[in-house]
Amino acid sequence: MSEYVIEMKDIVKSFGNVQAVKNGQFTLKKGEIHSLIGENGAGKSTMMKLLYGMYPVDDGTIRIAGEHVPVITPKVAIEKGIGMVHQEFMLVNELTVLENIILGFEPSRGITIDFDKARNMVEHYVTQYGMDIQLGKKINQISVGEAQRVEIIKTLTRGASVIILDEPTAVLTPQEARQLFVILENLRKDGKSLVFISHKLNEVMEISDRISVMRQGNYIGSVNKEETSPAELAKMMIGREVFLNMEKAQAKPGENVLEVKDVWVSGEKEISKIRGVSLDVREGEIVGIAGIDGNGQSELIEAVTGLRRVEKGTVLLGGKDITGLTPRKIRKAGLSHIPEDRNTRGLNRSMSIKENIIAVQVGDPPFCRGMVCDDKESLAYAKELSEIFDIRPRDPEISTQSLSGGNAQKVVVAREVSIGGKLLVASQPTRGVDIGAIESIRKILQEVKSKGLGVLLVSADLEEILSLSDRIVVMHEGRITGRLKAEEANEDNLGLLMMGGTEPDEEMGGTT
Ligand SMILES: Nc1ncnc2c1ncn2[C@@H]1O[C@H](COP(=O)(O)OP(=O)(O)O)[C@@H](O)[C@H]1O
Ligand SMILES: [Mg+2]
Repeated sequence: MSEYVIEMKDIVKSFGNVQAVKNGQFTLKKGEIHSLIGENGAGKSTMMKLLYGMYPVDDGTIRIAGEHVPVITPKVAIEKGIGMVHQEFMLVNELTVLENIILGFEPSRGITIDFDKARNMVEHYVTQYGMDIQLGKKINQISVGEAQRVEIIKTLTRGASVIILDEPTAVLTPQEARQLFVILENLRKDGKSLVFISHKLNEVMEISDRISVMRQGNYIGSVNKEETSPAELAKMMIGREVFLNMEKAQAKPGENVLEVKDVWVSGEKEISKIRGVSLDVREGEIVGIAGIDGNGQSELIEAVTGLRRVEKGTVLLGGKDITGLTPRKIRKAGLSHIPEDRNTRGLNRSMSIKENIIAVQVGDPPFCRGMVCDDKESLAYAKELSEIFDIRPRDPEISTQSLSGGNAQKVVVAREVSIGGKLLVASQPTRGVDIGAIESIRKILQEVKSKGLGVLLVSADLEEILSLSDRIVVMHEGRITGRLKAEEANEDNLGLLMMGGTEPDEEMGGTT
């Protein structure tokens, strides 16, 4: 028998005139965690969807457990022991966890579902692999991390021995990602073979046995984890050297640009209610807000940018009171904002790159005078920004719908950064974007700071906070639990503060 449980050879797949996979190669050994990495659009998801039978291949062969399988459908894939956890979960919100898992059973075999039996089976997996799941909760009552565990259980109950996880950590906090890794380790120990799709190199270096790299639809190569480095992987992914841990530009802090004084705001959840937060940001520095998602960071940013009502306290921008002003007035006062969700707040996906870039300046010269707008002026401006910020493709007239995550985010960054102003608020600026775009977005934030603007950065990615910030505030349950200078901060002390631990002589509410 073959050494491999999966063998994909010379795979070709196009969608219309998009060649998603030109030369796809992939092998999976029994009991290994094999990472498939590459920038957005490299063809990773397509490769694995072909294996799972979601589309037919145009060319190439797929072997499962040594046997050539010419036609794969999801039904065939499942029968052959392949399970896939997609980027978008496929769970029914109104049903309970247990019901969702049972939905995956094959009713066509004429066996009526025995709930007790099903529950026992699921509970067995839960304890065996160390998964924390509340079977009786509805899907809309559980966290994203938990929903993901439900998806994994679903593959197991269908008898999967090969489990494909498509960017599972993109939606998780560092803590949840660590929890997931423990589960993946347990699955591997039990002899399961796992495909882990990611573009986060630190994770890949932590979890993988082997790593395969794709770039622009092509197979670049496979390496053993022991014999590679993040730098080598990045080079394989991008095709050139990349520098994520760039030299931090010297901070030259000037006057306060932002002063948040004892601000109270209602929250989406009880733990995200802002309870008396004070902080400030000076010209020429980056202040990072670290915290586990959902501890009030979003609410605080919404309060500062005028999207959420401040119940008590004041917000000053360049010494001017902006508390309670509309977002538009706050923008005019000199605040630009890269919002955390580029799809709902950052971009209008039905509009072109150009229209999105101009959106915040419609009505303003030189683009418009009164009711008359000059399309040539807008186009020239959008073209210029596309060059400077390397937005691909270089066509400002195309819809942002078709852009990759990284390029969509670059449109938002380009628009916000080029407005100028006094303060740039950057919320999760590199979430879900590829490594090439991360590099350029981080570089841009440093340049903004060097130009003398203040930057308030919110990121759930500690590595990002540490590599960019001059000062760091940590939020937990709507309060600030710590304030550190960049030199004093590390993953350990930040992690502790993020969990709500306080430093011994920490005075809450003091100025940063
Ligand atoms: N169903 C589809 N229809 C049209 N184009 C697609 C489809 N799926 C993927 N593509 C395109 O194929 C390329 C590879 O996509 P994908 O496999 O999703 O990349 P990755 O998962 O590495 O980010 C991209 O250019 C993407 O836009
Ligand atoms: Mg993908």
